[in-house]
Amino acid sequence: MVNAPSFLGYNRLATEITANSTDYREQIDLSTDHELPPPSAPLYRNLFAPTQWPSAEYMPNFKPVYSDYITRMGDISIYFTSLIAEAIGLPPDAFNKYFDVDQQHKLKIVKYPDLKELGLWKEGDDVNLEGQGVGPHKDSMFTSYLLQVTQHRGLQVQNLQGKWVDCPPVDGTLVVAIGQGMEALTQGVCMSTTHRVLSPAPGSGPRFSVPFFQGVSLDAEFDELNDYENGGGVGKVPEEIKKLRRLVVERNGGRLDDVEFTFKGGDIAKTLGEATLRNRIKSHPDVGQRWYPEILREMREKQRRLEEERKGVDGGNERQIPTGPDLQTSGGKAVEAH
Ligand SMILES: [Fe+2]
Repeated sequence: MVNAPSFLGYNRLATEITANSTDYREQIDLSTDHELPPPSAPLYRNLFAPTQWPSAEYMPNFKPVYSDYITRMGDISIYFTSLIAEAIGLPPDAFNKYFDVDQQHKLKIVKYPDLKELGLWKEGDDVNLEGQGVGPHKDSMFTSYLLQVTQHRGLQVQNLQGKWVDCPPVDGTLVVAIGQGMEALTQGVCMSTTHRVLSPAPGSGPRFSVPFFQGVSLDAEFDELNDYENGGGVGKVPEEIKKLRRLVVERNGGRLDDVEFTFKGGDIAKTLGEATLRNRIKSHPDVGQRWYPEILREMREKQRRLEEERKGVDGGNERQIPTGPDLQTSGGKAVEAH
């Protein structure tokens, strides 16, 4: 991945960071293929590029199979999004303006080695030891679709009481996750779920999963996305739907805060593309260092200032603060992309 400003390609074990901790997984990031952008294009257009496919000489079926899967899942995700729109009282095509004609979608193939393979567990250690496959986070955009390939437990979602609940693999199904962009666009009705992956139990072998991430137009501007009162965004979600959402949450022991659900681009990003690029740099600082050193430096400087401010406020007690230009609702606690 470090060879490409697009953040596409292979990542060896333990190079990614989520919630400020290292993720114990290795992965390859694939996408809908695009031509390289012209030099005059905005910097975030670097995210569109040809995928770094493994050599056909060694894996002749890899590209045809995964290209086809990405194309099919792209169509399914856009259809599924139209059903979400209908279900909450919006026109079925409410989201369509945020999909490009040649929309880039993304997919990862992920391997989570077990704790023994990672060297984090040895004979005699507690068998219930937990390792971070990927730390707690919410997905960033509209919807994602996870194929759990192996029979491991490990994926967990956080319920409204804050408890972690196992999400075991079920044959013939995909796990659908709602992203923070969807939560903001639907004014909080489609809540984005915090989830994480625990490393597989010692000796149980690696867990494999294949998440597909529905893409959205990176040219979309935050001001337009947020302006649902004046015809921007997907329009206003009907009050009776919002009321239903509140009732469901309360019945399950949670409380929907009266927070304002908005897209946030940090201080700098005006478009989804700029925010996405910064998110990628934050998750993959090695790629950032090579291709976007100035942005990385500026983000680290901002992080350092925030930490100093935090120490000044509470004497340095540990607590998680939202940082960087992530897509967040103002009540969101989770950080990073996926
Ligand atoms: Fe995720």
